[in-house]
Amino acid sequence: MKTESTWANLIICDTPQDAAEEVAQQIAKRVRESPMCKLGLATGGTPVETYKRLVQWHRQDDLDFSSVTTFNLDEYVGLGPKHPQSFRRFMDDQLFDHVNINLLNTFVPDGTASDQEQECRRYESKIQETGGIDLQLLGIGHNGHIAFNEPGADATSRTRVVDLTDETIKKNARFFESIDDVPRTAITMGVGTILEARKIILMATGPGKSEAIKTMLNRPATSAHPASLLQTHPNVTVVVDQAAAG
Ligand code: GLP
Repeated sequence: MKTESTWANLIICDTPQDAAEEVAQQIAKRVRESPMCKLGLATGGTPVETYKRLVQWHRQDDLDFSSVTTFNLDEYVGLGPKHPQSFRRFMDDQLFDHVNINLLNTFVPDGTASDQEQECRRYESKIQETGGIDLQLLGIGHNGHIAFNEPGADATSRTRVVDLTDETIKKNARFFESIDDVPRTAITMGVGTILEARKIILMATGPGKSEAIKTMLNRPATSAHPASLLQTHPNVTVVVDQAAAG
């Protein structure tokens, strides 16, 4: 099965660095054109190089984040904002602490909220209050998950608490001392929440993602492979390197 697409704008870059450059350029262009834009941001290994470039362009070319608002896709339940493996800490370390963004305009679900269901409702309404997300950056899990919407996630799902699959726990264990330290639940934007973003960029690099990418691009949309539900969105760009393009 070749990697091609009839529904997404597919950009195949030679290397992971070229893919990071492409995605960073698209984000920087949006920030320059709309200084008050709302960005949806992702964590994990894939976007690290992209954030490095945004930091570099802020330092060198004054890329200005002062009026940007951001929403992250997900957060582990039980990890506070300073925990080395929390997604809030990841974003502070990889981006927020190195650009002139107003931290009060950066939103990450609160993994330590005493009432998690209320936190999900608060997060969802915060996105709506600000007018919705202009540009959502996504990664993809090996099993086709987007954010922490695991296989079986409904296309209308909203921000909620989810159980992580064993596969996802194993994959994410690389960031923890031991697999026992990986939280088993997370707060995630739902597929329905993600589909309301006005533009989506999904990024994937490395041979491990080639199956998930091919399935997403070429198979019929199904909640068994949440990334394939993006086929119903009118404005999706998929940026991959040669390895993820298989
Ligand atoms: C995690 C995150 C996803 C991310 C995925 C892939 O589960 N919740 O948002 O896209 O894993 O991560 P990586 O980029 O490290 O492969």
